[in-house]
This record gives sequence, C-alpha cells and structure tokens, in this order.
Amino acid sequence: MSRRSVIAGTGSALPRRRVTNAELAETVDTSDEWIVERTGIRARFIAGEGETTASLATDAARRALEAAGVAPSEIGLIVLATSTPDQTFPASATIVQAALGIDDCVAFDVQAVCSGFLYALTVADSMIRSGAADHALVIGAETFSRILDWEDRTTCVLFGDGAGAVVLRAETGERGILAARLHADGRHNQLLYVDGGPSTTQTVGKLRMKGQEVFRHAVTNLAQVLREVMGAANLDVSEIDWVVPHQANRRILDATARKLGLAPERVIVTVDQHANTSAASVPLALDVGVRDGRVKRGDLLVLEAMGGGFTWGAAAVRY
Ligand code: UT7
Repeated sequence: MSRRSVIAGTGSALPRRRVTNAELAETVDTSDEWIVERTGIRARFIAGEGETTASLATDAARRALEAAGVAPSEIGLIVLATSTPDQTFPASATIVQAALGIDDCVAFDVQAVCSGFLYALTVADSMIRSGAADHALVIGAETFSRILDWEDRTTCVLFGDGAGAVVLRAETGERGILAARLHADGRHNQLLYVDGGPSTTQTVGKLRMKGQEVFRHAVTNLAQVLREVMGAANLDVSEIDWVVPHQANRRILDATARKLGLAPERVIVTVDQHANTSAASVPLALDVGVRDGRVKRGDLLVLEAMGGGFTWGAAAVRY
C-alpha cells in the first residue's frame, strides 16, 4: 500500500487580546449590527506586544506536536503558510524551527494568502508521499492586524490574528489525505492585495479589497473545487462528515453549503469568534472541531479555502 499523510495532531494559538465589534465601533465608523449581519463576525483576536506570526505559529506547533505525541526532533519538514511573516526573510518557518529546538530539517514559507494552508498542506503531502520526510509540521499563521488600514471600515472589521498547525505522519492505510486540488487565476490579483512590498514601495503596505467581487468569485470557486476534490477521491458530497472551510464570511459558508446541498450543521464555523485569519483560519477551525469532540477519527473532512491571487483549493481527508 502506498504512503499517505495522516493528520496525527492539531494545535492552535490566539493572541491574548480579544476585540469585540462594539469595541471596534468606538474608533471605526461601524456597528455591531452591520458586522454581524453582513459577515457573522462578533469578535477577533489582535496581536499585542511580543506576539508575532512566528510566536503564534510556535505555540500552535507545540500544541499540535503534543497532541500527536511526536517529538520536535522527529520533524523532517516545516511548511508555514503566511502573508504576514515576521521579516521579509528569513522564512518564518526557520524562526519556528529554532524556537522548537530542531537542529536540522527542511523549513520554508508558502505564500498563497487565505489559501496558504491548503497550498502548504498539499506541498507537504507531496513531500511525505515522495519519501522526503516521515513527519511534517504544516502551519498557517498570520498577524493581519499589522497590514490593515484601521481607517478603512470596509476591510479592518473583517480580519483577525492567530495560528493553527497540524502534524502529518507518513502511514500506509485507509486514513490520511485522500486527494487535494489547487488553483490560481492571477488575472484577479488586484481585487485583494497589499499596496506595498520590498520590490515596489519598500514598505509593507496595507490590505485593499473589492469585497463584493471577491465574494462572488469565492462561492463559485469553492463549490467547484469541493466537487472536484470529492471526484478525485472517488467520494460523494453526501459522504462528507465535516467541511472545514476558510472563515471569511458566514454568508460565503452558507451560500457554498447551499450550492452543494450540504447541511449547515456539517460546516465548522469559527468566523464569529476569530474573524478572517487568512492562512490560519482552516487549521484553527480544524483544531476547534477536534478539541470540542465534533471531529472524530475516521471522519471524512473536506478542507477548503479561497483568497488573494486569486488562489483556491480543497483537500479531502480521512481523519
Ligand atoms: O479571505 C479572502 C476572501 N475574502 C472574502 O471572501 C471577503 C468577501 N467579501 C465580503 O465578505 C463582503 O463583500 C463584505 C463583508 C466585505 C462586504 O459586504 P457587502 O454586503 O458586500 O457590503 P458592501 O460592500 O456592498 O457595502 C454595503 C454598505 C456600503 O454603504 P452604501 O454604499 O450602501 O451606502 C458600505 O459603505 O455598507 C457600508 N459598509 C459598512 N458599514 C458599516 C462597508 N463596511 C462597513 C462597515 N460598517 N464596516
């Protein structure tokens, strides 16, 4: 039997400070009512002093290692998805590696914005199946609060900070990542972007988004890639136990589920408490579902995400 990447453990981490919609409305021209009605978001966590993408990633990774019963020294590969690295370089994955006390492994970042975790997971899965590593840490971690324009109410209310991680282990058997599919369409790279960068403005830049257009593409692309990945795994949508989606907007989750004929109770929702944490949102939601007992061993999961680029993807996983 061929090698598969099994999710051996999950972990997550959030900044200390929780910010409600009401608190935001004190400094931004918005209201709890508008944010809840249009997005389903009630609160988000915002990184404070000493909290960075790499520090949150390290905390999430430690929890995933503990849950998996895997020692840091067994990790042969770290793939960290982020669009908000601690520095332009070195890769934040190497900062996590050092913090975990791992002397030698492969470590690099992947940048596909909100789809970053799906991209990272797919790359790590390929490397595990090829024999390049037996244990991998796949992390999504972000501090989007640091690239938000806090005077732009159309974007600043939507995002939050956090990290999620999984430990993958090579196994032969029924469990593991059954299929993954990734896409990108760079023609839309100006609908969700950051208006700065090392090679253009020499600044970090701020997030800009044409929300309605992103919304429209998201529902179509997510429904399509979810069907595609289920087809690749030779499974029917009706067999899905849990959809673990990217948490951008409650209305996107509901519209996608409706389009696929999926019961809303089968969707893990954390956007109300975490807002959109970009690459962190899928592993964060997975960890919440695992730790509260909803996601059980043997369940069929579909992880999916869509973000800037556009990039989007999905993975079918027998947990
Ligand atoms: O993670 C990557 C993927 N990202 C996404 O999937 C985001 C996708 N887009 C969305 O989630 C939604 O399009 C938004 C939540 C961004 C916006 O919701 P919408 O229902 O499309 O609202 P809208 O942009 O059409 O704005 C409606 C009104 C506007 O006022 P007028 O022009 O009708 O007078 C906005 O100015 O709401 C106003 N508005 C706000 N009002 C209070 C926009 N932001 C706010 C705000 N508070 N924060």
